Amino acid sequence: MSLIYKRKPNQPSLTHTFYDYYGEIAPFARRIDRNLLVVPMVVLKTIEWSIYRWYQTPIRRFYGVKGNELIYMITRRCTDRCSKCGIWKNPEPDGEHLPISHFIDCLNRLRDNLYQVTLTGGEPLIYMDDVLLIAEEARKRDVPMVTVTNGTLLNEGFLTRYAKLGHILVISLDTMDKNKWAEFRGRSHYDEVMGNIRLARRILGDRLRIQSVLASETLEDVARVKAFCDELMISHVVQPYMDFGGTWHGTATCGETGVACAARKNICIYPNGDVVKCFDHHRIPMTKEPLGNIDREDIVSILCKKRSTEVSRIMKGCNLPCKQLSCNIPKPVYNP
Ligand SMILES: C[S@@+](CC[C@H](N)C(=O)[O-])C[C@H]1O[C@@H](n2cnc3c(N)ncnc32)[C@H](O)[C@@H]1O
Ligand code: SF4
Ligand code: SF4
Repeated sequence: MSLIYKRKPNQPSLTHTFYDYYGEIAPFARRIDRNLLVVPMVVLKTIEWSIYRWYQTPIRRFYGVKGNELIYMITRRCTDRCSKCGIWKNPEPDGEHLPISHFIDCLNRLRDNLYQVTLTGGEPLIYMDDVLLIAEEARKRDVPMVTVTNGTLLNEGFLTRYAKLGHILVISLDTMDKNKWAEFRGRSHYDEVMGNIRLARRILGDRLRIQSVLASETLEDVARVKAFCDELMISHVVQPYMDFGGTWHGTATCGETGVACAARKNICIYPNGDVVKCFDHHRIPMTKEPLGNIDREDIVSILCKKRSTEVSRIMKGCNLPCKQLSCNIPKPVYNP
């Protein structure tokens, strides 16, 4: 059964055609490093776009080299109980946790299409061995990896092995105020996490990033976190507060930007193996159901379904605030 077939795939509309073209070409152009190559590559991409615009093939959406980000929410389980986030309230039961081999198969199948694999959660480092295994497999396939962590479980052994693989680590930090810490994180481990951040900086060097969430609750804190990052020469990324089931409040900067959402480049996997095109898919009425599950189906077959290309098409016109999350913007903010 399809949830979206009432919408015609090739509805003729000038705006739709413009969004289609712009949504594909703009992120492509931004990924070209050499200025001299921008014009010829954009011309070639335009020819390719025109061909696939009129002669649709199921493989179209991941046609092209290194155009996709594979994002794996490895678990919903968490060490912390942050007030900004509700993910920790719904940990997956043991029977719903995907065997790691299925994700490695998925990575293998998509290797040529990926510019990055990102691990998030819950807290990914609860599965530290699996994270290292994925990091090794990604390195073998020359796919850069980013792991987003709350920093609680970091240790020297993990950091040393991770550093050797040359991947990026993002640690979340929303305040420098020890008194607010327990209220923000649901645990009083300020000293441990700050110690882990300094250790990570020493071992990973410039492959460490820090990410803060900008909300009414952190208006003053984010500037202090940035000052701390500047002092230690760590890149600092800010993402606006969104509804992850937490109790914080967005700021005025969490509004719409008028730029098309780039999330359709993403291939997102839930802890049970369900595949979606963005973790906010439930906000789009026709894309609530997952596209498939890598526990039971091959990822390429899932992405080649008519429904997958239709969901990507719907996402091109989607303009919700979640498009501002780090993983949904056109250019990867953690670009290695
Ligand atoms: C959901 S967490 C998972 C990874 C890890 N547990 C952590 O906290 O870094 C991924 C990123 O989302 C951010 N985040 C959490 N709640 C958020 C919210 N309500 N709005 C925007 N970003 C949020 C976290 O700060 C983190 O950088
Ligand atoms: S933001 Fe990260 S650390 Fe905090 S509860 Fe959510 S998943 Fe856990
Ligand atoms: S705006 Fe949000 S819901 Fe819409 S496609 Fe982008 S990430 Fe998904």
